[in-house]
Amino acid sequence: MGLSSVYGRAEDEASIKTLHRAIDLGITFFDTATGYGSGHNEALLGRALRDRRDGLVVASKFIHRPHGSDAPPIRARDAVEASLKRLGLDHIDLYYLHRVDPSIPIEESVGELGRLQGEGKIGGVGVSEASADGLRRAHGVHPLTALQSEYSLWTRDVEVEILPTARELGIGFVAYSPLGRGFLAGSQVVDADDRRHVHPRFKPEAVAANGRRREVIAAVAQRLGATTAQVSLAWVLSKGVVPIPGTRHIAHLEANWAANDLALDAASAAELEAAFPLGSTVGERYPAEQLKLVPAQPVAA
Ligand SMILES: NC(=O)c1ccc[n+]([C@@H]2O[C@H](COP(=O)([O-])OP(=O)(O)OC[C@H]3O[C@@H](n4cnc5c(N)ncnc54)[C@H](OP(=O)(O)O)[C@@H]3O)[C@@H](O)[C@H]2O)c1
Repeated sequence: MGLSSVYGRAEDEASIKTLHRAIDLGITFFDTATGYGSGHNEALLGRALRDRRDGLVVASKFIHRPHGSDAPPIRARDAVEASLKRLGLDHIDLYYLHRVDPSIPIEESVGELGRLQGEGKIGGVGVSEASADGLRRAHGVHPLTALQSEYSLWTRDVEVEILPTARELGIGFVAYSPLGRGFLAGSQVVDADDRRHVHPRFKPEAVAANGRRREVIAAVAQRLGATTAQVSLAWVLSKGVVPIPGTRHIAHLEANWAANDLALDAASAAELEAAFPLGSTVGERYPAEQLKLVPAQPVAA
């Protein structure tokens, strides 16, 4: 997503080099969406994967109403066809409903994706940011391959109900924004058009409040001879889910990849979890309009 200038400026030629370095490192799972840069991201990924697609898993997503809630909905079939074209592929390995549409039953959206799977256009059907109930309903219509939801030290909402439900149903869990959109890695928001400016958690008062807890990650990182980004990723990995961190930089990519080799001991994990109790982060995880399309923050049991 960040390769489409969402979190600061990205240059296509540099992005292609970063994507190729990812393949060279052994990374096989690439995540995009129709909405990232209004198609730019799918086209960029398609360009980077040309002649290098073998052995890779390509995931994309669509929403029914990219042009606002009053616009007529886009059908899954048309979205998949457009994604295939932009990616330059004849098959997308995993295709998600990016957000459940408030006026289209999830069964309908997922049922249509199921038919597209049957036709061989997509490999697996996924949903993003579904509630536990939505997950059950969708899975009842067509077996889901994956749920993609936000999960990181500062966003642990899914632990209450959604992650256990995915586990119970045998649905893979893909953790997006595992570095807290860069916050947990110490990333700075510099460019004027960086989307994080409108995110409540990146307002100065939230940064000040949440920043104090980031010092706990730094202390654990120092003890383990690692970086805060690596510790944050190792924590997500320790939960048995698949993190999909984003970066524009080869140096960050290589450092993040090395988190695979970082063993997080139980005491360090407990220290991190005590510093980031579920629901304790200052600031909502999305601006108000976007917040309406994700499950409500649960009350911890
Ligand atoms: N399903 C959904 O609704 C949804 C929503 C959001 C994201 N996603 C998916 O999840 C992916 C990752 O999420 P994300 O990009 O939002 O957040 P993220 O992976 O938590 O964080 C990305 C940010 O961290 C910075 N960063 C990465 N590695 C770093 C390092 N080692 N040191 C310092 N800074 C570092 C990046 O900056 P640099 O570029 O400078 O490295 C970037 O600003 C996206 O690409 C997208 O595919 C899905």
